[in-house]
Amino acid sequence: MKALIVDDEPDIREELSEFVEDLGIEVETAANGEEALTKFYADPDIAIVLSDLMMPGLNGLDMLDNINTERQGKARVKQVIFMTGNGNTQSVIRAMHLGATEFLLKPVDLNLLEKHIVSARKWVAAERSRRAQEVALKEQVSFNEVEISSLSRDIERAYAEALACLAAAAEYKDPETGQHITRIGEYAAVVAKELGWDRDRCDMIRLAAPLHDVGKVGTRDNVLLKEAPLDPSEAQHMREHPETGYHILSDSEYPVMKMAARIAYCHHERWDGSGYPRGLKGTEIPLEASITSLVDVYDALRSKRPYKSALSHDKVMHIIRDGDGRTEPGHFHPEVLMAFLKAEGKMASIFDSFKDEDAPRGTSVESAKNKTIRL
Ligand SMILES: [Fe+2]
Ligand SMILES: [Fe+2]
Repeated sequence: MKALIVDDEPDIREELSEFVEDLGIEVETAANGEEALTKFYADPDIAIVLSDLMMPGLNGLDMLDNINTERQGKARVKQVIFMTGNGNTQSVIRAMHLGATEFLLKPVDLNLLEKHIVSARKWVAAERSRRAQEVALKEQVSFNEVEISSLSRDIERAYAEALACLAAAAEYKDPETGQHITRIGEYAAVVAKELGWDRDRCDMIRLAAPLHDVGKVGTRDNVLLKEAPLDPSEAQHMREHPETGYHILSDSEYPVMKMAARIAYCHHERWDGSGYPRGLKGTEIPLEASITSLVDVYDALRSKRPYKSALSHDKVMHIIRDGDGRTEPGHFHPEVLMAFLKAEGKMASIFDSFKDEDAPRGTSVESAKNKTIRL
């Protein structure tokens, strides 16, 4: 820390310099306001200014005014002590308004001056340390913010992976392939976007829709894997998978799991009420389930199964639009159907991008790894 002594009288400058140096503070001197400003701005270590008031050229008050308006001067930790031989009330008031620390009359009482300089030095040291702590604290806070956001990204990824693992577990029993469940998530997100959903909700359905058939883990293998038509009791057992899926998923408090539970429960319901397990009608069916149900039909018709061959995109679109006796347009939520028809090109590209023969089972876990969600 340095002191700057400003006085037009060389003798006073010399006497004060010695005095302040004896207190252990390094000193710079200036003969007027202009010189003082040049030295003050050139040396950031100057923190105490001991200045005469009346000087030829720039006087002490105007010098302090300049320091207060310059950015570098304003920001500096500093104490300014004025000395004058003919102080009037107005000068004292202006000096105080400008933030002067003390105002002493000449001849200066050296005991008093020592007291003021020592306390100015203490104040500067304390203020500098307070500011340094503030800077360190701000750095720590921004470091912690970065840490927390990377941690929450990790949690989101772990969550997405756990969901994909759950879907993959069901898929190991199911004759449908891993690519089927990946495609269902992708189609559903596209239709949701077409319906105007925001990005977070689209990401959510992308993760939730693949779990639609998770209840099939509770379906007996002799029914699930049977290639011949199911007898009535087998068909009834098969139709229990939506409810089983709902029981598996519905205990969670996370929105994405709640959505997955609704989808699992209602993805075989139909708009006209002819679906199962509860025969829900129209808007009784959750919208995310209506979306999943339609894209599930699209994908099933396009895929090869032991009991049926794969159909082309155009053929499937024809069935969905006009019906074929088994699948009818009245099964689908009209707005969802409209959004689906608008995005039909994207449906075809998703089917082509995630081909069944390209990937062994379990690849849906891999494809979910790079996706993140808001929990
Ligand atoms: Fe199903
Ligand atoms: Fe499915």
